[in-house]
Amino acid sequence: MKRPILYLIALLLGAGLAFGREPKEDDSNVIYDESKVPQYDLPPLLVSAEGQRVTTAEAWRSVRRPQILSLFSNLIYGAVPDPESPVKVEFEVRKTDPQFMEGKATRKDVQIRFSNSKGKAEMLVLVFVPNRGTKPVPAFMMHSFNDTHSPDFEAHPQRPGRLRCGWPLGEFFDRGYAFVAVYQQDLVGHNEVEFLKGIHPLFYRKGQSFPKASEWGVLSAIAWGAMRAMDYLETDSDVDHTRVAIMGHSKMGKAALWTAAQDERFALAISAQSGCAGAALWRRRSGETLEKMVTRFPYWLCRNAWKFVNQEDDLPVDQHMLLACIAPRPVYVHSGLQDTWADGRGEYLSAYHASEVYRLLGKKGLTSESSPPVGEAIIESDVGYHIRQGGHSLQMYDWERFLDFADYHLKN
Ligand code: GCU
Repeated sequence: MKRPILYLIALLLGAGLAFGREPKEDDSNVIYDESKVPQYDLPPLLVSAEGQRVTTAEAWRSVRRPQILSLFSNLIYGAVPDPESPVKVEFEVRKTDPQFMEGKATRKDVQIRFSNSKGKAEMLVLVFVPNRGTKPVPAFMMHSFNDTHSPDFEAHPQRPGRLRCGWPLGEFFDRGYAFVAVYQQDLVGHNEVEFLKGIHPLFYRKGQSFPKASEWGVLSAIAWGAMRAMDYLETDSDVDHTRVAIMGHSKMGKAALWTAAQDERFALAISAQSGCAGAALWRRRSGETLEKMVTRFPYWLCRNAWKFVNQEDDLPVDQHMLLACIAPRPVYVHSGLQDTWADGRGEYLSAYHASEVYRLLGKKGLTSESSPPVGEAIIESDVGYHIRQGGHSLQMYDWERFLDFADYHLKN
């Protein structure tokens, strides 16, 4: 399909689809009923591409995990190509406000600049460090829908009131965490289809003006940005860069899992209602499917992913394998009972099946194939989970469980 046509389709289908809003149109063929979920066989986690059984932590690490990551890179999210001209990266703390939230925290506005002979791009990372307590502190990094350049992150007397796209910053500070926000659209557009601006042009080879079928789409670019923010954190003595959790809700939950799977510097990952292309299993085709996703958001994934539309059973991976690539680092998955578009059951099953690798690595995973009761969080496990009443949003209950999970794993 030609790009202008795709662009038009994306505009028409994406128009009016606010972030996180469940689609109203063309829902007739969506599976919401468990009895309609097709039979499927998941690709084995612990058998290598050469057909060898993987029975040791060493074989997982040196053989199977790299194979799986490479499949996700080339077929699902898109690999970041080697740039022809080296990319120079600069960090600058542009502003420091030690009086943030009446002196509870220090806010740093950190600009990260990228440049090479092909162009320039930049991102703005906000780092909030609690003033109380001994430094360095552990941190949560959030892939943010909200713009770090806008007033969205200014201290507000009513926080933590705004929760859908908000964040209970005070809670993080009280529990001794720094909070780091990375904006999803600094390097790539929300539903980018042209890739002529932002970070991609810096990586094009001579004559190239669009990512190849196996090269990075939107989610890969967002994940790459978080890794650069982690590069900065490694230079910031206020934050313990060995104890950074990466998190995100919905599209940002998909990005958080992909970030953590690739970059082992992230100590823990939290997927909040990440659904399709996040924690949910492709093969269940329940709620949002690959077809629905690439029709509305053609390049959140890479172009190769289109080849598996309605052919999910041919995929050599499923999303439990993405979660497994995070092992042995703790991963937490959160679903909403009424968030059927994100397939809460499929999110749980992914976490459950990934647990096989956690156990191989001597960690604790989920032991029951049945989802836990609504409102009961599994915290004391390296694979954590909760499902609560309600739809597609982040509620105070969710934030508290994420913090409990981080307390349990990052503070012990
Ligand atoms: C749409 C999309 C989802 C995504 C969600 C969001 O609903 O279909 O895949 O998770 O937007 O990012 O809020």
